[in-house]
Amino acid sequence: TRYTRIAGTGSHLPPLRLSNQDLVDRLAADGIETSDDWIVERTGIRFRHFAADGVNASDLAVHAARHAMEAAGCTPADIDLIVVATSTPDMVFPSTACIVQRKLGVPGGAAFDVQAVCSGFVYGLTVADALIRTGTARRALVIGAEVFSRILDFKDRTTCVLFGDGAGAVVLEASDTPGLLASTLDADGRQVEILCTPGTVAGGQVLGQPLLRMDGQAVFKLAVGVLEDAARKVLAQAGRTPEDIDWLIPHQANIRIMQMTARKMRLPVEKLVATVDRHGNTSAASVPLALDEAVRSGQVRRGDTVLLEGVGGGFTWGAVLLDF
Ligand code: ACO
Repeated sequence: TRYTRIAGTGSHLPPLRLSNQDLVDRLAADGIETSDDWIVERTGIRFRHFAADGVNASDLAVHAARHAMEAAGCTPADIDLIVVATSTPDMVFPSTACIVQRKLGVPGGAAFDVQAVCSGFVYGLTVADALIRTGTARRALVIGAEVFSRILDFKDRTTCVLFGDGAGAVVLEASDTPGLLASTLDADGRQVEILCTPGTVAGGQVLGQPLLRMDGQAVFKLAVGVLEDAARKVLAQAGRTPEDIDWLIPHQANIRIMQMTARKMRLPVEKLVATVDRHGNTSAASVPLALDEAVRSGQVRRGDTVLLEGVGGGFTWGAVLLDF
């Protein structure tokens, strides 16, 4: 049997770092009121990074990918599949993955984007796993990269304080022993409206609202339920129990959703990897960013059992259980 394993991880945050107070000041200039206390208490977020003008998702992705390849001990020539999870691509087309392929100098193989908003990395990892298992590819870069600062409405305090930019990447490769153990993906298209950026480009113009809209409470309620379901599904598939989980790395949107998810699984909070305080919600980048930080800080070690979980616009959600 052919399995897949994560050979290396990497991430990148653009250098511009904004505190809650920086945002409070920026919004005050437009007469919009918020506070560090409100943001910390409701979300757990203290800082987020924003990409400079002209820096695109592919630029963040390339940095993260280079770190992941270095950790995996491989070069661009070893990569034969690139999957980029993003909702903030450089262009309408071609895919950000093709742009990343060129910038990295990867000589060939498939390259495409996956669009599942904040579930994008879990979706992308599952797709890459399937392509490697069936023999279509041998070694993949799976990247989550976002510049959500570009689609934020800084006149809407209920959303603009929540998001940040960044990228995370893994090298996923064929293996004789299992790394990825189980995965589940789901979507509920009836919930399109609760979290969307509904504008589009047509006739050379932007049609409709090109900025992010969210019904936070609706998202919150759905997220907690589906994250528990997804966790139970992958554990059942792999014949494991919650006690087997060493680290829970959920999508980093809101510390309250994350803690509630851990509690429902009866996992001690020490097993929860949280970077939302320093990164904000980086959508498809949040899970691989958190994974890479946990690996580099020595939390996640080789052999640990890790549960990755995504949830976001669509509505989409999913989970991957793996032995690192
Ligand atoms: N600063 C100050 N006050 C604010 C702000 C702000 N930035 N934003 C909203 N408020 C006010 C509201 O206007 C409201 O005031 P009112 O009571 O006078 O009407 C009050 O705070 C409470 O607002 P709620 O929306 O009820 O606040 P809630 O506790 O639900 O928190 C939040 C809002 C943080 C958005 C929460 O609902 C949430 O986290 N939802 C999930 C969001 C999420 O996880 N999204 C991402 C998942 S999917 C993805 O990542 C794409």
